[in-house]
Amino acid sequence: MNHLLSIEELTAGELTGLIDLAAKLKAERGAHPSQPLAGQSWALIFTKASTRTRVSFEVGIRELGGAPMFLSKNDIQLGRGEPIIDTARVLGRMVHGAVIRTYAQEDVVDFARYSGIPTVNALTDAEHPCQILADLLTVREKLGGWEGRKVAFVGDGFSNMTISWMWAAKHLGFELAVACPPDYAPEPAFMERLGAANVSVTEDPAEAVGGADVVNTDVWLSMGQEGQEEKEAAFGRYQVNAELMAVAGGEAVVLHCLPAYRGKEITEEVLEAHADTIFQQAENRLHAQKAVLVELCGSVV
Ligand code: CP
Ligand code: NVA
Repeated sequence: MNHLLSIEELTAGELTGLIDLAAKLKAERGAHPSQPLAGQSWALIFTKASTRTRVSFEVGIRELGGAPMFLSKNDIQLGRGEPIIDTARVLGRMVHGAVIRTYAQEDVVDFARYSGIPTVNALTDAEHPCQILADLLTVREKLGGWEGRKVAFVGDGFSNMTISWMWAAKHLGFELAVACPPDYAPEPAFMERLGAANVSVTEDPAEAVGGADVVNTDVWLSMGQEGQEEKEAAFGRYQVNAELMAVAGGEAVVLHCLPAYRGKEITEEVLEAHADTIFQQAENRLHAQKAVLVELCGSVV
C-alpha cells in the first residue's frame, strides 16, 4: 500500500489487515516496540475543520516517533490559489508523508501523484476512509465481527461516509441497508459501478433499521454544504430516535462519526444511551490511523 486515498481501492485483505494492525497497536499503546516514523516529518493539510482527525493524526504521528506539521489552508499559499500539484511537488521534496482533508477527491489523488510521498485522505467530499477503519474496528470490538451482520445507514445516502461504507460492504460482504430521502440517494451510475448485491437503498428508515445489528448515521449537512439548510427539510423522517431504534435488533449498536447534531440526525436520548460505543469509535480513529501510518512506512512493529 503506497497511499490511503479511498476504501474503494483497498482490497478486502488490505482492509482487514489494517483493522488487525489497529487492534494490535491499540493493545500495545504506550509500549510500541519500535518507532517506525522516527526522523520523519508529516504534513497535515486541512482545508476543512476537524477535531478528531486532526488530533488523532497529530498524536498518532508523535506516538510512532514522527513530527506532525499542521498546515491549514490559511497558513500556506494553497489558500491563496497556489495549485495543489505545485504544493505537492514542494512538500514531496521536504516531508515524508501527507494527510489531506479537502473537498475534491481529485486533489488528494493529484497530491499523491505529484508529491511521490505516502498520502492519506483525511476526508474529501467523496470518501472518509480513515473513519471507516475506526468504525469497523469498533464493530469488531462490540460484535466480534461483521460476518452475517446487518448494518443500517440512515441519512444522506450519497455523502462521503455512506460512499465509504458502501465500498466497505462490497469488500467485506456484510449486509448494508441505506435509508435516505430519494433526492439524496446514491446516483444510479455509482450503484452500477459498486455492483454490490449486499447493498440496498430504501426511502423507508424502518425497513433499513429493521433487525439491524449496527445503526449508523452522520450529519445531514456535510462540510461544504453550508448555506444549503433547505436540504434538511427532506431529512425529518431520517432521525435515529427511540422509535426507530425499537425496530433494530435487540443488541444493536449505534455509530456516529461525530460531530453530532442532537435533535437533527440523532436524538440526545439515543446518543447518550450509546455514548460508550460512539466515543470508543472516536478513540479508535487514533489506533486505525496509526495502523495506516505504519503500513505506509512499510515498517514492522
Ligand atoms: N469524524 C471526524 O472526521 O471528525 P472531525 O471532523 O472532527 O475530524
Ligand atoms: N459527512 C460529514 C462527515 C464529518 C466527519 C462531513 O463531510 O462533514
